[in-house]
Amino acid sequence: MGNQPRIVLGVCGGIAAYKSAELCRRLVEGGASVAPVMTEDAHRFLGEVTLSALATEAVRTSLWDEREPIPHTRLGQWADLVLVAPATARLIGAYAAGLSHDLLTATLLATRAPVVLCPAMHTEMWEHPAVQDNMALLRQRGVGVVEPGTGRLAGGDVGPGRLADLDEILRAVSVTLETAGAGAGRDGAAQDLAGQRLVITAGGTREPLDPVRFLGNRSSGKQGHALAEEAASRGGNVTLVTTADRPVAAGIRVMKVETAGEMERAVLSLAEEADVVVMAAAVADFRPKAPVDRKLKRADGVPEIVLEPTPDILAALGERKGHGQLLVGFAAETPEGSDEMRHEALAKLRRKRLDLVVANDVLAPGAGFGHDTNAVLLLDAGGGERAVPLTDKREVARVVIDTVVEMMSRRGRDAETKGRQQ
Ligand code: C5P
Repeated sequence: MGNQPRIVLGVCGGIAAYKSAELCRRLVEGGASVAPVMTEDAHRFLGEVTLSALATEAVRTSLWDEREPIPHTRLGQWADLVLVAPATARLIGAYAAGLSHDLLTATLLATRAPVVLCPAMHTEMWEHPAVQDNMALLRQRGVGVVEPGTGRLAGGDVGPGRLADLDEILRAVSVTLETAGAGAGRDGAAQDLAGQRLVITAGGTREPLDPVRFLGNRSSGKQGHALAEEAASRGGNVTLVTTADRPVAAGIRVMKVETAGEMERAVLSLAEEADVVVMAAAVADFRPKAPVDRKLKRADGVPEIVLEPTPDILAALGERKGHGQLLVGFAAETPEGSDEMRHEALAKLRRKRLDLVVANDVLAPGAGFGHDTNAVLLLDAGGGERAVPLTDKREVARVVIDTVVEMMSRRGRDAETKGRQQ
């Protein structure tokens, strides 16, 4: 964590509230100033004294504490990050609806700092469509979410809904603070995407065969998520359309999708307003033509699966590309040699009317699907070429975004020259 970040730690009334004491201790140990805000129900699970012995700031619980007339605006403005762990269904519902009935909900509405929620509740509550819809809305607004894990819940039940591991929460905190810190122009990070709207896709799509089976691929979403984080840290206004269950820095708007059809709907509508679209997702090329709504059974014999093509999202984007929009595609290849990869990638660039294609050999050691590292070849429509040897995916993302920024400023310069000549 950077130099003494200021964190408001919201604690709601769920059994996982006891874990927030340990979380508070570890945040403080990591160098943060922590101001806990407990909901009324949180007191049923955790004593105020416990948190106040561990935090650097006073524990607050009420909007009506006579010491401070407007604690929520002061806290909201003070915070570099608002972290809510555990976040209950009630808190999530109130925040999504914009309600403020207590100090924590008022602080969430009064802050401009990034917000990270760590939901924890019983499986039935977590999977309820109302809770899932609220979560989808909050993700689209750029709220960071550390997904609950699966395990033992209160009362002995087992299932999804358990507060994420503290290590995972702490990782999400540092990624968010780094991205937001760079976004605020600290750490000397270039803000060369300020004011630009980017749509970035990530992960592999899953095409259902029946309610439990799907056709998928090995994409982890790491490269697309790294691109989104890099773009956000450079001031870009980023929407990430992803199939991957990976933590995302708060501030990046997230739309979770599963199939090529869902990704198509999300991307085509978002692209209308975008300056840059980066299709890093591994979208299925084929899907089962007639998925069945009951589980296929062994006793019914081996099914014959008929496939149909999925919509080619990138080609559709190329056809309707708005004036000045920059379109970046990926080409995952299994070539015989580098010449074949270049050839295939350039063909894709022309066929789909791309401005830039990022090609990688998915069979090369350490590169492509699932790895933390990648090696790519960037080819642009103007004949430019840049090879990035094996390095981590965030570094690959940096070079891709550098190239996008260079192409955008070249276009800006060309338009200026043209304007002067007229
Ligand atoms: O032609 P190919 O599928 O190899 O092209 C890969 C590129 O096209 C990637 O950028 C991928 O995100 C995109 N794609 C797409 N829709 C599809 C298949 C691929 O947008 N149905």
